[in-house]
Amino acid sequence: MATSHFLTLNDLSVEHHFKVLDRARVLKEAHQRGDRLDTLSRHVLAMIFEKSSTRTRVSFEAGMNQLGGSAIFLSPNDSQLGRGEPLEDTARVLSQMVSAVMIRTDHHQKLIDFSQASSIPVINGLSDSCHPCQLLADLQAIRAEFGHLEDLKVVWIGDGNNMCQTYCEAAGIFGFNLTVSHPDGYAPDPEWVKLGRGQVHFEPDPARAVEQAQVVTTDVWASMGQEAEQARRKQDFAHYQVTASLLDKAADNVCFLHCLPAHQGEEISHGLFHDPRTRHVWEQAGNRLHAQKALLEHFILN
Ligand code: CP
Ligand code: NVA
Repeated sequence: MATSHFLTLNDLSVEHHFKVLDRARVLKEAHQRGDRLDTLSRHVLAMIFEKSSTRTRVSFEAGMNQLGGSAIFLSPNDSQLGRGEPLEDTARVLSQMVSAVMIRTDHHQKLIDFSQASSIPVINGLSDSCHPCQLLADLQAIRAEFGHLEDLKVVWIGDGNNMCQTYCEAAGIFGFNLTVSHPDGYAPDPEWVKLGRGQVHFEPDPARAVEQAQVVTTDVWASMGQEAEQARRKQDFAHYQVTASLLDKAADNVCFLHCLPAHQGEEISHGLFHDPRTRHVWEQAGNRLHAQKALLEHFILN
């Protein structure tokens, strides 16, 4: 049987997604009780990071440890990848040594190339196209708050980037309504909007976009790799800052999410994290640990 990978959300069926999300909840409760689990005993995860990370690295490494396994961090600086060893060769070698590989990189095609040469599961820890592991954590937080995903009004404010594109894909899979509010020139790729299966709408005015929203989410104006565009983007996104008064226009029970890291004074106003409507952001970040543990079990044990 061909090896399964998790490069985009659509790599899992809806049924498997809900199994992973249910298991993530169980693992979170077990973690909170202090229960010890050894479901991934002696399994090893290789983690290739071609970009910076705090949450993804710590949650994957801690997750493997907590399930009785371990993780190895590899960066281009201290592996042969940085000296030009082809991804495909690396994939063939790692396939004989570890149980799964997580990769954070720029071009999504690199993930595809790596996975095609890999006989062990490959997990996308973020590419320029999408960030499916983050969405698992977000969906877990949204489900915990509202009890369901279908028919919720979710609003994306800002750049049509990798996170926005993953929300488009998630809207198509889970049946929530996604309104995207972005400045001119920063739309998500139409191919990703198509994955939304008609559930993605656009409203350029953020104040109108958030009306009746149950979930409002945003991300940095300049993603990793776009540092040179920072100044221009700051001007282009000036009207797309999430503030307390913008959240006032949403539903009373609105839940604000941000994948982090956040830039206060840019995509969110200074002090916004003191607003109780943003409290889920920390739960969302913490969920990375549990959602990915469930994902690792799914891919390594099946
Ligand atoms: N949200 C997220 O992926 O954070 P890191 O870049 O810190 O991994
Ligand atoms: N869009 C951001 C997400 C970081 C988790 C980036 O790619 O830098």
